[in-house]
Amino acid sequence: MCGIVGYIGDKKAYPILIKGLSRLEYRGYDSAGVALIQDGKILNVYKRQGKVQDLVDFANDFSTEGTVGIGHTRWATHGEPNDVNAHPHFSGDENIVLVHNGIIENYEIIKKELTKRGHEFKTETDTEVLVHLIEEIKENSQVSIEEAVRMALKEVHGAYAIVLISKDSPDKIIAARKSSPLVIGLGEDEYYVASDATPIVEYTKNVVYLEDEQIAIVDRKNGLRIISIGNTEVSPYVQELEMQLEELEKGGYDHFMLKEIYEQPRAIHDSFRGRLNAAESWIALGGIRDYENQIANADRIVIIACGTSWHAGLVGEYLIEDLARIPVEVEYASEFRYRNPIIRPNDVVIAISQSGETADTLAALKMAKEEGATLLGIVNVVGSSISRVTDAGSYTHAGPEIGVASTKAFTTQVTILAMMAMLLAKKRGTINQTRFQNLLNEMEAIPEKIEYLLTSNDYIKGIADNYKDAANALFLGRGSCFPIALEGALKLKEISYIHAEGYPAAEMKHGPIALIDENMPVFVIATQGPNYEKVVSNIQEVKARKGKIIAIVTKGDTIVKDIADHYIEIPETDELLVPILATVPFQLISYHIAVMRGCNVDQPRNLAKSVTVE
Ligand code: F6R
Repeated sequence: MCGIVGYIGDKKAYPILIKGLSRLEYRGYDSAGVALIQDGKILNVYKRQGKVQDLVDFANDFSTEGTVGIGHTRWATHGEPNDVNAHPHFSGDENIVLVHNGIIENYEIIKKELTKRGHEFKTETDTEVLVHLIEEIKENSQVSIEEAVRMALKEVHGAYAIVLISKDSPDKIIAARKSSPLVIGLGEDEYYVASDATPIVEYTKNVVYLEDEQIAIVDRKNGLRIISIGNTEVSPYVQELEMQLEELEKGGYDHFMLKEIYEQPRAIHDSFRGRLNAAESWIALGGIRDYENQIANADRIVIIACGTSWHAGLVGEYLIEDLARIPVEVEYASEFRYRNPIIRPNDVVIAISQSGETADTLAALKMAKEEGATLLGIVNVVGSSISRVTDAGSYTHAGPEIGVASTKAFTTQVTILAMMAMLLAKKRGTINQTRFQNLLNEMEAIPEKIEYLLTSNDYIKGIADNYKDAANALFLGRGSCFPIALEGALKLKEISYIHAEGYPAAEMKHGPIALIDENMPVFVIATQGPNYEKVVSNIQEVKARKGKIIAIVTKGDTIVKDIADHYIEIPETDELLVPILATVPFQLISYHIAVMRGCNVDQPRNLAKSVTVE
């Protein structure tokens, strides 16, 4: 959370910073700010509560000159989101300015110490404490700015990605990271620093991902130098970005979320391209090839994730247990890491994460590593922290997901999990050739079936119109579609602010049924399969209490269609792949309801895309 950006080179820094902040706005949008060094001596800082556009409107009246600068878009942790707490933050003498993503956990102790030494603080943030600490060390020890940063970072606990500039060293940017991401872009005599590659990709494809506890010193004349916090030189490892600029634009859609929903056929195809071939009857996940035997013989698989990615993990549990017969446990990363779990060396731990930066998931992985477990990742963002901490893994290849509500990341995560389940089943001999072949055929057909489903968008929008004023909603599903009920409820609540809950359909009668009356929409997955008749009974129970039923049914269904208030048909597929198809109508319903309610679909209140704080 929080997006940070920096530039040093020959160009005017301000437009680059603003464009970069707009790209990073998905990481937080409580306030935004920039700092620019003008003529090597004047430090101009502009910051504003609200969106990047509010900052631009404000800065219009002032000088935005300068070829070195830093910027920040905030998701508030310490201190309310207002102009004062917005980044960048000044040192006491106003020579240094710093932007920060993360949390300095021991900031109160440091603040007390610094206050005793005469420092005065103007904000409630942990970040201001850090920049004062750097100033204090620089003055007391008479060291360079980079050495002061290094010494200060040795004293702080917590997570940080920081970028700073100083009036005394106007041709340098200093950046450092621990548990929060930072990428450095290398152009022709110019350098970019950012929380991810999205602000960089249109200028250069050559990047260096900073590792934990590394400090980058970017000097206009001498280029990039990296040292560790322990003060050893590190040679920068330059990688080439695969990202395309068009992937970061809305491409004619009203919102990124809608674009990303529509991208699912392509994204899912990319996630299995080269990994599965129905005509030749094979499946291969190159990234985990060396670990296949270990996974197939694991005592159990533990899946750790948060939010939507956790829902994908739950689908994975159904798929892997059903097909490969390996015990699977799915854990919230935030609970796992604090509850002293039993982890054995023969366990395989799979982390699922779109961003690859979720702080809880990363911490849980590190804990599992210490216990000797094998770590795998199912990650979307290439080069992200989780992809680097794990022993092996499979990228989802969904492409950048900018809308805060996860859509294509989820369906591609489930695609990878389905392939993993099939691969392991084949290896363990727990699947016969007919079922295996059928699953391969069905998987290859999923993108086309989603294309077909998307042609119902206007029809689904019409259904959404009936429920846009609901105060509550229930989502029901059974078996591998129970997690889709959870995901449907999460989508609706996070972007439209309607309270929604997901339940296994049969659990309804153990409590939630008390909520049902004529005002309660109940979204039910009632596709053909072994539980079909049971779900029909659950629907009857809702109807008997005057609840409104919106059912997702298999194309050609006749029974549920007659009972439901509204129905959405999805194409027939293997029962284990229904979760992928059933997700799409829920995404569209949530999207349309949120738009009709006037909500900010791509940037829902209080949320951020990449949750790099605990
Ligand atoms: C919901 C959503 C979040 C994320 C969660 C984990 O739409 O996007 O619940 O799924 O914050 O994020 P990642 O997958 O990046 O670890």
